[in-house]
Amino acid sequence: MEKIRKVQIGLLGLGTVGTGVVKALRENSGHILSQLGVSIEINKVLVKDIEKERRVEVDALQLITEGSLIVDDPDIHIVVEVMGGLDPAYILVKKALQSGKHVVTANKELLAKRGQELLQIATDHQAHLLYEASVGGGIPVIRTLQAYLSANRVSSLRGILNGTCNYILTQMAEQGSSFESALAQAQAAGFAEADPTSDVEGYDASYKLMILASMAFPVISEELQVQRQGITEIKAMDMTMAKKMDSTIKLVAEGSYDGHSVTLSVGPQMIPNSDSLAGIRDEFNAVLIHADVVGDLLLVGKGAGEMPTASAVIEDVMAILQSESPRIRKPIEPWMPNTSSNQGDASVAWSYLRIKNDPHKNENFMEKFVQNFSLIEDAKRQLVVLGDEHAASDDWMMLVPVSAIDLSHWLMENHFHHWLVLPYQGEISYENKKVVTHLSEAIS
Ligand SMILES: NC(=O)c1ccc[n+]([C@@H]2O[C@H](COP(=O)([O-])OP(=O)(O)OC[C@H]3O[C@@H](n4cnc5c(N)ncnc54)[C@H](OP(=O)(O)O)[C@@H]3O)[C@@H](O)[C@H]2O)c1
Repeated sequence: MEKIRKVQIGLLGLGTVGTGVVKALRENSGHILSQLGVSIEINKVLVKDIEKERRVEVDALQLITEGSLIVDDPDIHIVVEVMGGLDPAYILVKKALQSGKHVVTANKELLAKRGQELLQIATDHQAHLLYEASVGGGIPVIRTLQAYLSANRVSSLRGILNGTCNYILTQMAEQGSSFESALAQAQAAGFAEADPTSDVEGYDASYKLMILASMAFPVISEELQVQRQGITEIKAMDMTMAKKMDSTIKLVAEGSYDGHSVTLSVGPQMIPNSDSLAGIRDEFNAVLIHADVVGDLLLVGKGAGEMPTASAVIEDVMAILQSESPRIRKPIEPWMPNTSSNQGDASVAWSYLRIKNDPHKNENFMEKFVQNFSLIEDAKRQLVVLGDEHAASDDWMMLVPVSAIDLSHWLMENHFHHWLVLPYQGEISYENKKVVTHLSEAIS
């Protein structure tokens, strides 16, 4: 009879994900034993507060508050880091790898800011550092890029990477909620933290995008810059306008590589309902990968939560148990993508603009705008003012044939107030008279 191998795990953190990991390992221990002949034991668990009430039975677990008791313990083979943040997670993971332990982590901030260094330490010490749970929760996007697209060259990534923002924007689109009440609903449903800054300001999605970009493109995450905008300025009226144009608003993370440089952005966009990301609802995440051989690939799944995230963590543990050699992606050689195969006509960039119709704070906005962007000659084709029924409202809403970046810079340089700019990816419909009036009417 084959001998059963015993593997000891040290768990750093017993919050949402840590609890899921304990449950999943307990429930699936028989399956793991039968699959791999390995018996897994959770040796110690690091927490901040030992007295805290837990959602799993902890009698059999040794709770500790000193991380070195895990990373210095020679009996522990695999460290699972689900505590979050940079410190002390960085020091503990580094020490674990330096002593040859394998590490599985769900920590996107750690990977985005220290990933390259930690991966190098892992390689030097012949240890695995796996991090599937750090992006897209239960969606196996990292493994897809690492293992299944290793012969492809990826030219772009586009996705919804933050479940909290997607839940909030779904509530706003479907229930007509304000941002504030949708956020409160997300917090009540357990999809948003008490301090939601990292999610709603786009930091969380930026970290995830950096991790994906470092695997898809010939770059390292620590050197990447992400142009970032959150969703806190989106109002119910923006969502109403989007709806009238058969569109919706999503927090979209995008990355592309043109053969020379990588461009990354995270921000709200107005996208048509026909866009494959438009139908991704609630806490679901999605990643659209464009690669030269496979073409377009769309991965969808629950992007957060106890069990989807725990699933990604235990799959990484399984991968370590199955493999003796580290599966760490080697740096990719720079390459030049086939520019004929990319996405649409970048020369026509439209934006949605909402700006307060305030003669004091935004004096002569319309005239200055038209003059600056030379729109007067063929105004009907070049600027669309939205919403007849909002004519008396305090806000102008319009679609303008100027990129969101250029428009935002111009509004800032000219000290205009109370505005929102979103890239607009939908059709420009001149026929829809209910929604559209033209510049000539708006400034007359
Ligand atoms: N939640 C999700 O759905 C999700 C999805 C994907 C990835 N992630 C990532 O997974 C990681 C964990 O997230 P989570 O939601 O499970 O976090 P959480 O619920 O806040 O749990 C964090 C755990 O770590 C412990 N901890 C934190 N700082 C500590 C310190 N300095 N010393 C000792 N223990 C410490 C806490 O102890 P106490 O319990 O005693 O406070 C708690 O048990 C994060 O990196 C997060 O970004 C989370």
